[in-house]
Amino acid sequence: SGMAAGSGPVLPRLLCFLVLVSATAAAWGLGSLGCSFGAFCECDFRPDLRGLECDLAQHLAGQHLVRQLVVKRLKAFVEDPAPAKPLVMSFHGWTGTGKSYVSSMLVQYLFRHGMASPHVHHFSPVIHFPHADQIGRYQGDLKQWILGNLTACGRSLFLFDEVDKMHPGLLGVLRPFLGPSWVVYGTNYRKAIFIFLSNAGGEQINQLALDAWRARRDREELQLQDLEPAISKAIVDNPNHGFWQSGIVEDQLLDLLVPFLPLQRHHVRHCVANEVAQLGLAQQQEEEVVQAVLDGTAFFPEEERLFSSNGCKTVASRITLFL
Ligand SMILES: *[C@@H]1O[C@H](CO)[C@@H](O)[C@H](O)[C@H]1NC(C)=O
Repeated sequence: SGMAAGSGPVLPRLLCFLVLVSATAAAWGLGSLGCSFGAFCECDFRPDLRGLECDLAQHLAGQHLVRQLVVKRLKAFVEDPAPAKPLVMSFHGWTGTGKSYVSSMLVQYLFRHGMASPHVHHFSPVIHFPHADQIGRYQGDLKQWILGNLTACGRSLFLFDEVDKMHPGLLGVLRPFLGPSWVVYGTNYRKAIFIFLSNAGGEQINQLALDAWRARRDREELQLQDLEPAISKAIVDNPNHGFWQSGIVEDQLLDLLVPFLPLQRHHVRHCVANEVAQLGLAQQQEEEVVQAVLDGTAFFPEEERLFSSNGCKTVASRITLFL
C-alpha cells in the first residue's frame, strides 16, 4: 500500500492510542459476552469502527469525504439489528487515490481475519471473469457464489474490483441481492455489504477539484453533493462500465457514492514519508529519498502541475530506486 503506517498529526495519534488501548481492554473483558448477545458478531464479523476511524484519520492522505462518509454509513448499518437492505457502496476516483487501500482497511476492521476471512469475497475482472465470450457461465457462477455464501453467513462482504473493466451485463445478476426484498432460507440477506471500486467518474472528480482550486475554494469545502451528479452521470453514460444496464444505478440500489479526490504534492509527500519512515534511515537520507521520489512524480494538468498522475500508487516501488 502507498499509505501505510508512519508519522501523522500528534493529537489524532494520541487519541487513537487511547481508543485502541480501551478497545483491547473491552475485548478481553467483555468480548465473548458482547458477541453472544450482540446483533453484529455473527461469523467472524467483529466491527471496530473506532479503530477504522483512527487509522483513516492518521494514514489516509487527502480524502476528507471518504473519512466522513464511509465511517458514518458503516456505523449506522452495523448498529442496525434489522437493516432494510444490504449496504452498497461504490468508490470512485483516479488511480492511486486510495480506493483499494480504504477497502482493505475496512475489511481488516470489520472481520477478525481481514482479507483472509472466509466471509470476505474479492472479485476482479482479470482473475475471475477474463473472457468476454463466457459471460453466461460467469453470471451463473456469480449468482451461485453470492447465494451460497450468504446462506453460510449473512454478514458477508463482497468486494468488486475494477468495475469499469467488468463485462457489461455480468453485474445484472446482483440486482436482486442489493435491494430490500431478499430473505430466503431464513437467512437475512440484508446484512451483507457490497463494495464496488472503479475509476469511472475520476476525470469528472479531478475536473471539479481543479475548478475548486482555481476558484480558490478550500479543498475540504468540496461536498458529496458537489460531486455526486457528475459521478452518477459518468457511470450511467458509460456502456463499458460493469453497471451498464444492470439496473443497479437506475433502481437506486447504491446507498453511497464515495468520491476519492486527486492527490496534491503534499499528499504524495505524506505517502512517501509514511513509507520511508519504516526503513529506519538517517533523517538526512530520509529527506533526500522523499525529495527524489517527489521529483520523479508526474503531475497534471500541464500548466498548474497540481495533481499526481498516479496518486500514491507507485510510491512504495519507486522508493527502492533511490536507496
Ligand atoms: C463463496 O464464494 C467463493 C468465491 O469467493 C466461491 O469460490 C465459493 O464456492 C462460494 N461458496 C459457496 C458456498 O457458494
